[in-house]
Amino acid sequence: MNKFATLALARGAVNGGRSWSRGYTCGRAGVESWKGPEMGHGSLVLRGVALWRRGMSSVPAVEEKVEKREVEGKEEGGDGVVVSSYWGLSRPKLKREDGTEWPWNCFMPWDTYQADLSIDLSKHHVPKTFLDKVAYRTVKLLRIPTDVFFQRRYGCRAMMLETVAAVPGMVGGMILHLRSLRKFQHSGGWIKALLEEAENERMHLMTMVELVKPKWYERLLVLTVQGVFFNAFFVLYLLSPKLAHRVVGYLEEEAVHSYTEFLKDIESGAIENVPAPAIAIDYWRLPKDATLKDVVTVIRADEAHHRDVNHFASDIHYQGKELREAPAPVGYH
Ligand SMILES: [Fe+2]
Ligand SMILES: [Fe+2]
Repeated sequence: MNKFATLALARGAVNGGRSWSRGYTCGRAGVESWKGPEMGHGSLVLRGVALWRRGMSSVPAVEEKVEKREVEGKEEGGDGVVVSSYWGLSRPKLKREDGTEWPWNCFMPWDTYQADLSIDLSKHHVPKTFLDKVAYRTVKLLRIPTDVFFQRRYGCRAMMLETVAAVPGMVGGMILHLRSLRKFQHSGGWIKALLEEAENERMHLMTMVELVKPKWYERLLVLTVQGVFFNAFFVLYLLSPKLAHRVVGYLEEEAVHSYTEFLKDIESGAIENVPAPAIAIDYWRLPKDATLKDVVTVIRADEAHHRDVNHFASDIHYQGKELREAPAPVGYH
């Protein structure tokens, strides 16, 4: 038994396996996976299988079993393959403000923030030009099948729509990134701003999947919609970024509306105001006793910020300028 397996054994003995089962979710798993010396390649493969089986959820139950089995295997046989720390890839221990260990690997303490709830939720860009009207009508049309399919199932609706909402920022950021490379030009911070938006939307999704478990046909729908929407938005952004950003601005206005309806149903008791997922408490620096209502409130504020960023971006193009000529709202939440 080599020294790393011995360490794993000692750790298991001291903690009674608790170190593998404690903690919240993907973050905990991630922290452990970076500790090369204690994890073999086989373990990482098993972890991948476990994560897949968990189906995006951060509920640690299945993963715990796999990890425990792996540790037990090392104890029994001592022939597990151990990856050395040759590459130096180990994340330093991080702490929360209250001194407890930082459990997440999918986002860091410096990525967290307190949502600005003072933002004006009622702002609306009145469509004036032909392209504005096209964008507005397109979004209103897209809302019809969404309303029919989901009706007032706002949890499910939010989860599905977040899979789409995280696409435009990534597409826009990617195109600006490539343009920056081609033209040897600075982006004015817009690459970062748009990628931040994509990441923020993805965190909305990671939060919603804690509350709503997607069914197989919903996963299939996501695959289909993503395949179509990614490509359509990519082409649209190449042809007319001002229209693309205007469409997203109106989509975000609809998102603010949907989350407002979501809140109404929570307040009326139609949707249970369950405790906030751990990932949301850390990401938005919410109090420990935060609830779904708090989470939806901060997500709605994020959507209002995205609305402003995208209408602003479209306005810049309308003035005949490129985005890089105006300061990008980096870190705007
Ligand atoms: Fe969102
Ligand atoms: Fe959004």
